[in-house]
Parts: sequence; structure tokens; C-alpha cells
Amino acid sequence: MAMIKVQKGTKDILPNEINVWHFMEKKANEIFNKYGAKEIRTPIFEATELFARGVGDTTDIVNKEMYTFEKSERSLTLRPENTAGVVRSFIENGMHRLSAPVKLWYKGPMFRYERPQAGRQRQFHQVGVEVFGIKQPTADAEVILMAVNYLKSLGLNDLTVEINSLGCPTCRENFKNKLKEVIKPYLSQLCEDCQTRYEKNPLRLLDCKVPECQEIFSKPEIQAVIQGDFICEECAEHFEELKNYLDILGIKYERNKLLVRGLDYYNRTVFEIKSNNLGSQNAVCGGGRYDSLVRNLGGEDTPAIGFAMGMERLASLIDVSNIPEEKTTAFVVSNNTIEAVKLTEELRAEGISTEFDLTNKKFVKQLEKASKVANFAVILGEDEIASNSVTVKNLLTSEQKTVKRGNLTENLK
Ligand code: HAM
Repeated sequence: MAMIKVQKGTKDILPNEINVWHFMEKKANEIFNKYGAKEIRTPIFEATELFARGVGDTTDIVNKEMYTFEKSERSLTLRPENTAGVVRSFIENGMHRLSAPVKLWYKGPMFRYERPQAGRQRQFHQVGVEVFGIKQPTADAEVILMAVNYLKSLGLNDLTVEINSLGCPTCRENFKNKLKEVIKPYLSQLCEDCQTRYEKNPLRLLDCKVPECQEIFSKPEIQAVIQGDFICEECAEHFEELKNYLDILGIKYERNKLLVRGLDYYNRTVFEIKSNNLGSQNAVCGGGRYDSLVRNLGGEDTPAIGFAMGMERLASLIDVSNIPEEKTTAFVVSNNTIEAVKLTEELRAEGISTEFDLTNKKFVKQLEKASKVANFAVILGEDEIASNSVTVKNLLTSEQKTVKRGNLTENLK
């Protein structure tokens, strides 16, 4: 019979790779909690309209990449990202009544129908943070700090933080018009996607990777608009303050005026953190401010800012040799299966992860197995059974000692 295989763009995370995932999850819990963030878990599918209205119907994500299906005449979509879902939950659960800032973090699978390549999957995982209720740039700085410190806690340092300000809707409108004006003479020479972007979302023109388009955008009159400072005074002040905080906090960053991000909800601060050790898919983190999204999805006016990181990309960068191997604490080695199972269960009841040989192998084979999977061998020979004791062997140092059964748990702990 034909073998059923894992779907293109999806991957199993196997037991021999799970260590690094537990490590990323543990560190997320630890670091984000330190900043007062609480974990939130939202459903994996939502109403399609949430993403159309939230992420934006001019984006590639909504236009080309969503896994959408119908059930009971409702259009549902597997979440391509989690900001929209978290905002929906924030509104639905009246979290605006909580004292600001409301800081939430999440982890879990996301789905985008993209062309798979190294660092890009159709089912991938994100860990992210969303902070609600603060319009001041202190929140922007704190969110970037959370991202940087989380990455540091994973041992990742060779990274570049890029920041930009997209301004407010008013200053952005000015910029869009100027950009359209200088690009208009070249419109027919741009790629098909850019021609659509020109009409629907001109800012996204800056994101195009097609060499012919890039050549056009490098023309002096177009560069003059791109590199010019289009943001209004208030937005410029917000951005200056953020940079000031980042300097004070010792976070190095680069201004990238081409950084526009691929989702529609952003205003003012946007940022990305890129790895210097990844190929073309080098963004490990993307985020920014989205002050109108809560209102646009039917909530009270609430400023917000957040980020998400691709966990597969993080996993590929983490040096696994620095992560302690997750071994079983104890392995009971004995020729007396009944006594072995009893002792194993006793230890498990005490909270110690324990295994024993289920196949009645020879004593030496059991010891070999123990040294592969456990930190300690708990040896239960006939002498030990008779004297109500056990021999504990540290499988790392080979040290061993005989202890009374009553003192075993204490010794292992
Ligand atoms: P995003 O830039 O679309 O932003 O995704 C964030 C990160 O998810 C990327 O930097 C990348 O590491 C990872 N990622 C995205 N697509 C894939 C893929 N197909 N395969 C593997 N990894 C991928 C967002 O999703 C926003 N919700 C971030 C945000 C939160 N903004 C504000 N709050």
C-alpha cells in the first residue's frame, strides 16, 4: 500500500529534537513572565473575516496564503499569525477594563500557504508578545527589549535589530502619494505584483525583491522620496524618544527606511531582528505598533505593540550542545521484575522520572540501556532486596554507593 507522507511544508518534531523546543518554551515562560506578561492560548482557527479585517485584504497573507475552509456555511481560516486572534480575545473578554499595560504572550502553530524553502514552512511555530494600552514609546522600547533579552537567553547574539517608523495614517498618506507620483512614469515596467501594490498598498512596493523593480526604485528621484523624512512632527518625536530609550538600554539598532512589514495593521514603530547566520529567510522576529487594530476589530480605542518570532528559525540557530540533555532520572536494574516494577512506581510517585527493563534482559544489558537513557542506575540485586537497600550508580561519574531504600528518593533528588 502507498505510504502516506507528511505534507509539503510541514514537519514532524521528533523526540530527538524536542529538547530545543522545550528549551525555547521554558525560556519564553521565564523571560516574558519577568516582564509581567501572561500566557494566552487562542484557537487555531478563527472566522476568515478576522484576518481579512485584521491583517488586511491587500496583503499576500490574506490574498494568497490562507488555509480557508467552510463548515456549516461559515468561512473559517487556520491562523496565519496570532496578533488578530489575540486582539479578538482581548476585545471579547473585556481586557481593556484591566489596568494597562495588559501584556500577553503566546506560542503555537501558524499556517501560511507559501512556497516552502529553508526557513519557510506552511505550518510553522511562533512565540510572540502583545502589549496593550500604552501609546508612549516606553512600551515600544520595552517590547524590543523583551525580544532581545529572550533571544539572548537562547544564546543568540549575532543579530541585527532594524527599526523604522511608518508614521500615522495622515503622514503615511502623504508619503504614499509622493511615492506614487515618482513611480508613475515607470509603472508599466514594474512586475505584476507591484502594479497591484501601486494601486492597493503602495508602501509594499518597497518590499519587492524582483531585480528589475529594485533597479527602478534605486533611481535618484525615487530614492529621494524613500530616504526623505516623511513622518510628521509628532511621529518623529515618538521615534526619537524610542531611539533614545534604546540607546540608554544599550540596544544596538539600525534604521532601515525600507522596512515596511507585510501586514497592514502597523503604524509608527516597526522592527525586525535578523540573524547574520541564516540565508534569505533571515528574519527571526518581526513586530511593531498597531494602534488602530483594536478599534478596527470592534473594540475600544487601545494602542498596542508586539512581535512574533519564528521558532523553527530560532531552533536552527540554537547551539544544542549547550542545552542539558533531557534524560530519565533513574533506571531500575534488576533480575527481579516484580521488585523492579514496584520500586519504579514508588519512585515515580515521589516525582522522580524512572524506567525499568520491560523485556527481562540480562543484567549487563539493562545496565547498558540505563547508561543511554538515564542519569542514575538504581541497582536492585538479590543482596539489596534482602537488606532492604539499593545501589545507586551515577552514570556520568560512575560513582556508586549503597543506600537504604528509605533514603533513596533523597539521594536521587
Ligand atoms: P511576521 O513577520 O509575519 O509577523 O512573522 C513573524 C516571524 O515569524 C518572522 O520573522 C519569521 O521568523 C516567522 N515566520 C513567518 N512566516 C514563516 C514561515 N512561513 N515559515 C517559518 N517562519 C515564518 C507576524 O506574524 C506578526 N503577527 C508579528 C507581530 C506581533 N506584530 C505585532 N505583534
